[in-house]
Amino acid sequence: MKHLIDIKDLSVEEIDELIEVAKDIIDNPERYSERCMGKILATLFFEPSTRTRLSFESAMMRLGGNVLGFSEPNSSSAAKGESVADTVRVVGGYCDIIAMRHPKEGAPIVAQEKSIVPIINAGDGGHHHPTQTLTDLLTIKMEKGRLNNLTIGICGDLKYGRTVHSLITAMCRYDNIKFVLISPEELKIPDYMKKDVLYKNKVSYIETVDIEEHMGELDILYMTRIQKERFSSADDYIRLKDSYILDLEKLENAKKDLCIMHPLPRVNEISVKVDEDSRACYFKQAEYGKFIRMALILKLLNEKKINNEKENVEEKLINKITCKNLRCITSVEQELDQIFILTDKENGIYRCKYCDTKGE
Ligand code: NCD
Repeated sequence: MKHLIDIKDLSVEEIDELIEVAKDIIDNPERYSERCMGKILATLFFEPSTRTRLSFESAMMRLGGNVLGFSEPNSSSAAKGESVADTVRVVGGYCDIIAMRHPKEGAPIVAQEKSIVPIINAGDGGHHHPTQTLTDLLTIKMEKGRLNNLTIGICGDLKYGRTVHSLITAMCRYDNIKFVLISPEELKIPDYMKKDVLYKNKVSYIETVDIEEHMGELDILYMTRIQKERFSSADDYIRLKDSYILDLEKLENAKKDLCIMHPLPRVNEISVKVDEDSRACYFKQAEYGKFIRMALILKLLNEKKINNEKENVEEKLINKITCKNLRCITSVEQELDQIFILTDKENGIYRCKYCDTKGE
């Protein structure tokens, strides 16, 4: 059985296959309309969502399957204090595959350890969002025709934006990728992304606060929302919320075939006037999400192999240090072991198994 928790759980070859299947679904939807007859997808959304949940549900229905689940924790036993592990153990008996979203980082890792059915991470706190990344990769492939040789601008909340973390992780595996990372000082990408992903893969990147500075070099501009729900101070959010508003004037020096993306929801980051520009791809992107999720559900339901290789080779510290990240699942589910993995042997750096925070 295979789960999708982090985009790295899929090899580049597997991603290519998923993209090919998604393209075939787009061209021949009728061939797929009964592939999941008799199968059930559970959507466990402990945090709000429109696109992701509905696109998962639509994907399963378009495959001829059924769906059940909840869209907010108050309508589930989580409101009574049930652990993620218990919820997943029970729901696994009612369905064949689970897509879950949780505000705490690492919650899907806890789920996968207890689950008897495949788990898909539909977003964990400010950490990962691998199915949005599959959506983004399909969009890039469809719109640009390639996943290599690209200069990608990513703008907005690079600190808390989980779609950003998963997208950078995925794109680092393709050739000749350059990033222009545009954010306010306070919302730069986390340290673990720089060290464990960009630096490790020798991918070149520039950090800037100015959205126009490198506009003319970009093949892709990925706009993101400032993640209000992850801020501990309302004042900080108010100060930073309108840091970037993309309008036609700012696009003046942009390439004619720039692809403007956004995982949505948009708050104020892209002026509605940009919607009519041929370079605006964000609504198409949302639609591609359904097709790639159809391909993913098919793949995971057909996968039998247990993929525990990563588990066996890692050096760990168990219950020796405590994770300091208040957004980590271990901060609320205190019976979980505190597990830290040696991610950088040279410098002796351990990171939390659930949320990647550096152990101190
Ligand atoms: C994103 C998310 O939930 O992280 N939305 C989505 O899944 N389409 C982006 C966001 O909420 O800003």
